[in-house]
Amino acid sequence: MNKIRGDKLVTILDGKSLRDKLLSDLKLKIDALNEKPELAVILAGEDAASKIYVNNKKKTAEKLGIKSSVYTYDENVSEQAILDKISELNNDNRVNAILVQLPLPKHLDKSKILDGISPDKDVDCFTTYNYGKLATGLEPYVYPCTPKGVLLLLDEYGIDLDGKHVVVVGRSNLVGKPMALMALKRNATVTVCHSHTKDLKSIIKTADVLISAVGEVLIEEDMVRRNCIVVDVGISRGSDGKIRGDVNFESVSKVSSYISPVPGGVGPMTIASLMLNTYELYVVQKKRSL
Ligand code: GUN
Repeated sequence: MNKIRGDKLVTILDGKSLRDKLLSDLKLKIDALNEKPELAVILAGEDAASKIYVNNKKKTAEKLGIKSSVYTYDENVSEQAILDKISELNNDNRVNAILVQLPLPKHLDKSKILDGISPDKDVDCFTTYNYGKLATGLEPYVYPCTPKGVLLLLDEYGIDLDGKHVVVVGRSNLVGKPMALMALKRNATVTVCHSHTKDLKSIIKTADVLISAVGEVLIEEDMVRRNCIVVDVGISRGSDGKIRGDVNFESVSKVSSYISPVPGGVGPMTIASLMLNTYELYVVQKKRSL
């Protein structure tokens, strides 16, 4: 979708339509199976956003013919109870993919819990095994959902990262770090910025592709180079109650060549990636059992 903004055209990176396209293709593949792939989700605690995300994941899975089972635990759940459930799911041949929704309640050891997931059921690429594969440039079973969604979106618009300067703002294990590794794998020159970065503005100004994953409004028109490609992974709620990204869309879209909106950009792509990953793990497990 092209729009005239300022004195030029900008292309909106439309995550909703790409999600719909990818998921309708995936549905055809799932319809052709004589069984349903299964995604198991563990949700511990009372985080309101997590409850909404998990509900969306379940609804999307079910529309596609993926079975989804959600195991909910209260805030005070013991680590052992979750590890026992993960072990049970690891050993259950009907379950193809396991997702532990983050954040976990504070008293739980996140690494220990995530590493309880069998790597071939690790739908988020969060285990040390799969993350290590990713970091060393090898193939994890599947790639992390949000960065995968970003690359699928860029691919759809023919945006090649080879040789480009990609600036990633944010260094979280969930998005910033794997995003940087995956852009490197695509032969981009990558800079990762974070809360201790000095002169963030001048670094962002050199980006061919800017990927922001911070969770607060940060990126304004004067910060980005003309014709920069801008991907907004941020999500937060403004004082007006509306969902917003890290990028001031109104102003930045006047100077960028491509820009992803919030909502409707990377968010739908994350959920599409989760569904694709569930199916990919199903295929790996089926091939192995032949
Ligand atoms: N919490 C926020 N995003 C994610 C995600 O992609 N996966 C999981 N497991 N938890 C999350």
